[in-house]
Amino acid sequence: MAILHGGQLSRVAKQYQIPEKDWLDLSTGIAPFSYPIPDIPQQAWQNLPTISENLIEVAKAYYQTQYCWPVAGSQALIEKLPELWNDKKKYLHTNVNSDFILERHAYLPKVGYKEHQQAWCKGGYQLHFYQDSLPTDIEENSVVVVINPNNPLTDTFTIDQLKTLQNLCEQQQALLIIDEAFADIFTPEFSFSPHLSTLKQTADVLVLRSFGKFFGLAGLRVGFVCSNKHWCETIQEVSGPWAVNGAALFISEQALQDRTWQANQLKRLQTQSEVMQELLKAYLPVLRMEANALFITIFLSDAPVVYQQLCENAIYVRLTDENDSLRFGIASTSQLEKLTLRLSAIRSI
Ligand SMILES: Cc1ncc(COP(=O)(O)O)c(C=O)c1O
Repeated sequence: MAILHGGQLSRVAKQYQIPEKDWLDLSTGIAPFSYPIPDIPQQAWQNLPTISENLIEVAKAYYQTQYCWPVAGSQALIEKLPELWNDKKKYLHTNVNSDFILERHAYLPKVGYKEHQQAWCKGGYQLHFYQDSLPTDIEENSVVVVINPNNPLTDTFTIDQLKTLQNLCEQQQALLIIDEAFADIFTPEFSFSPHLSTLKQTADVLVLRSFGKFFGLAGLRVGFVCSNKHWCETIQEVSGPWAVNGAALFISEQALQDRTWQANQLKRLQTQSEVMQELLKAYLPVLRMEANALFITIFLSDAPVVYQQLCENAIYVRLTDENDSLRFGIASTSQLEKLTLRLSAIRSI
């Protein structure tokens, strides 16, 4: 079954019978300020896309990693991973036991981007959930997914915590997936990717990076995986020759090396997030608020009712799957003005 995400404005517009153009859409964690699209050379459209050495060098510098590879959005890879892991484990076990592993286990955050759960469930894995602390006991050959920072909860794990988990995964020959889709808003030390080079060459650790969120270009469909050489080659092979379009390759190559734009973007997002946090506290009955520079999640005693009130006033946010909170994407300056007006209209009812 398709999972409900933010960004499906036409569905709510129809439900509430308000034209799409009148909505204030804050339903995703995509930056409201996009990297300016440069002039794209004709060849980027005309030729079949090729991944240049320069793009790889630029991405390696940005993600501080020895090996990385572009994919058509990290979602494209999330869907492929169960099959890749099954294949790897089958290969390893054919000499030992042709029956392969009957039980497959995946450990995931209970609250978090649901596509991971869906992918491993479809892949035939038994799901186990954790939340505040990382798993300390896992089955052999299993899979552990960490979403760092968590979406929608914003909570994070430290490098030390991740290293302890990585040791456990290594002992148990398990795959560790660290989804850093929103990690661009933190200092480079936050990411696990620089630590990949300190691990055994055979380590099964993948760091997934989304390009669309921080750079505000989710429609380009590009992301990166950082891993060891073997995993990069496998992902390259299964992705096929032209998985990422030429314009996405061209734009991401520019954006990933544009440090001035990145620093400005971070400042802008932090400022907007701080102003917005105060606004939400002032206008909504917030029980608890968790925020970062790309989204704000507020817990309310009756989140579905507040969600409905917001929708009736053409403010579209994400009601979380747990129905206990609302996630707001960061508003641009003009969106913030609209948000203030609409929230004050709700309060005065
Ligand atoms: C935690 C997380 N990971 C991965 C993705 C997939 O993003 P993309 O395919 O644009 O890289 C999302 C999208 O919302 C996400 O929230």
